[in-house]
Amino acid sequence: MSNHRFRRFTVSNCEIAFEWKGGRRLANNQDVAYILPSDQTEVDRLQLNHNLWKNVVGGLFKSPLHDKLTEGCRVIDIGCGPGWWTLDMARLYPNSEFIGIDMADVFITKDKPDNVTFRIMNAGTGLAFEDESFDFVFQRFLVMGFPTDQYILSINEIKRILKPSGYLEIIELVNDYKNAGPAFKNINKWINNALAARNMDSFIADKISSFLSDAGYADIRDINYDVPIGSWGGEPGEMFLAIQRLALPAVKVMITELTDVTAKEYDDNLELAFKEVDVSQISTRFRLIYATK
Ligand SMILES: C[S@@+](CC[C@H](N)C(=O)[O-])C[C@H]1O[C@@H](n2cnc3c(N)ncnc32)[C@H](O)[C@@H]1O
Repeated sequence: MSNHRFRRFTVSNCEIAFEWKGGRRLANNQDVAYILPSDQTEVDRLQLNHNLWKNVVGGLFKSPLHDKLTEGCRVIDIGCGPGWWTLDMARLYPNSEFIGIDMADVFITKDKPDNVTFRIMNAGTGLAFEDESFDFVFQRFLVMGFPTDQYILSINEIKRILKPSGYLEIIELVNDYKNAGPAFKNINKWINNALAARNMDSFIADKISSFLSDAGYADIRDINYDVPIGSWGGEPGEMFLAIQRLALPAVKVMITELTDVTAKEYDDNLELAFKEVDVSQISTRFRLIYATK
């Protein structure tokens, strides 16, 4: 897939600069820790990922908000990326208003419903919204974007912008491949080290419930998912393998940048990794946590 939408030079984008490294477009800003690219290939990967998550979760969200959303309320998707979730939700709930924010302008604007607004914003340094102005806050897959202090700040900022009885829902990956063979163990270690180099935590998902509790949220629900990678896991396994085939090359640039792993070492290991998935029946843990204010 081409990167036609994204120019091949450093641009300033609402004070977030981007640069091309190893053929991928990455944020270059001291307040943005994100290690994945912001380009067309990633937009496509996130679409596959969104489809997988609808399948795994059995819908778009778990918080008990269907009636409120049907009636009409205000929703924000933090780190929305292209906005696949925002757009699906907006079509499902036309009486509600949806705002998607992201530090990168990768938003899908073709056929955007009128009840969606996308805004460029660095959510790691605060949320430029009024107190108590949202009924539902959704945040999915920021483990590779928020250092621990920004993650906690975000949870507190979300509480500030939530209306009383509003809901926060977070979905997060745990960077810990279950049944990993030697090649996947390397990937685990390398991603872990790259995240640590930017003060991010592979296991932040396991701590979110306690962050929510510390921040004073109520009725905290924490659901664990174990998602298979490979044909041994049926349809979700096939879908997740296709996503891994895009995700693991995507983290390569920052792993080689932030650790001492070379590009050749990474590529050789990746080839071995994809042979491991069915033999070892590898899977990945995720957590979906929701709570009310
Ligand atoms: C793995 S993607 C997930 C996108 C979307 N939530 C989804 O589930 O499809 C993470 C997104 O977070 C965004 N992001 C990372 N750091 C951010 C920050 N500090 N502020 C706002 N967005 C950020 C990235 O640009 C990227 O679009």
